Amino acid sequence: SLPVENVQALASKNLNRIPSRYIRPEVEFDVVSIDESQQIPVIDMSKLDHHDEQKKLHQACKDWGFFQLINHGVADEVIEKMKTDTQEFFNLPLEEKMAYAKIPNYLEGYGQAFVLSEDQKLDWGDMLFLFGLPVSTRDPRFRPTNPPSFGASFDKYSMELHKVMIHLMKLMANNLGTDPEMLASFFEDGIQGIRMNYYPPCAEASKVYGLAPHSDATGLTLLLQVNEVEGLQIKRNEKWVPVKPIPASFIINIGDMMEMLYMQIMSNGEYKSIEHRAVVNPEKERLSIAAFHNPKRCTQIGPLPDLTKTNKALYKTVSFQEFMELKMSSKLDGKFMVKKLK
Ligand code: SIN
Ligand code: FE2
Repeated sequence: SLPVENVQALASKNLNRIPSRYIRPEVEFDVVSIDESQQIPVIDMSKLDHHDEQKKLHQACKDWGFFQLINHGVADEVIEKMKTDTQEFFNLPLEEKMAYAKIPNYLEGYGQAFVLSEDQKLDWGDMLFLFGLPVSTRDPRFRPTNPPSFGASFDKYSMELHKVMIHLMKLMANNLGTDPEMLASFFEDGIQGIRMNYYPPCAEASKVYGLAPHSDATGLTLLLQVNEVEGLQIKRNEKWVPVKPIPASFIINIGDMMEMLYMQIMSNGEYKSIEHRAVVNPEKERLSIAAFHNPKRCTQIGPLPDLTKTNKALYKTVSFQEFMELKMSSKLDGKFMVKKLK
């Protein structure tokens, strides 16, 4: 694996033309402009004890794979601290950030994803990836101590999002006719990774990706938009649909693992892990925070036992480890992974 140049440093050179490794074929940038009615569904967490809102959640997971969650109960100050500490971290001089740089064979740290070849296309962004849970997975080597409150803000945010995720998992399991406690038990002691994304402004913004098209490997992803700059787009009916974040909400999406756990239910309940991407802005930096929630490591990734009782298994079941290896090796092919297992 090969290291990649720091994009924030590259952007600060104010080049009119950027290196060709970041330039993507024009054709992939067709975006549909949409009216309000085509926006991803909005789910009100404070109403999720009502049947109607639960049905709305089920519909959102089935039809969109994405929704925005409002009134989620995570305190404003927890979110604000996470946002400002993340912003402050990326504002630090490069040498200071490099103290937490990614190193080969570790997932955590600051920088960019390692690439496999010299000619591989690159994304226009840097990241800081850290494990949140289980607490034992947190590696102090990669955790910023500047700003000084970073660790406390991160830990609080990590805990609060875990709670929201478990609440949603139980409701989803229920909506899909499986045991909520069983699904929750996979995720209760699961692995939470948090990726803070920093996308600098780009002189050739319309020709690059902040994050190339992909589907998330996780069970459930909770995304927070940090500043007012939009950039997330989701694939729907073979078009790219921009997401308009509601302030203080989370954008939530079904990941590959969640899709796989419920694959047995064909037309009546299948949840989809939807391809999405991030684009960048010509003048403004953009920041986002993605919290990935995976089941615990011993979980078998395949149709839940509840489902295979009555139906014969149609999909392969793999170990968590096998799943991750397959996902990594199909990284350059967008949503290749799930298809491969069918
Ligand atoms: C993603 O994590 O896939 C998208 C992040 C973003 O919207 O910046
Ligand atoms: Fe993603």
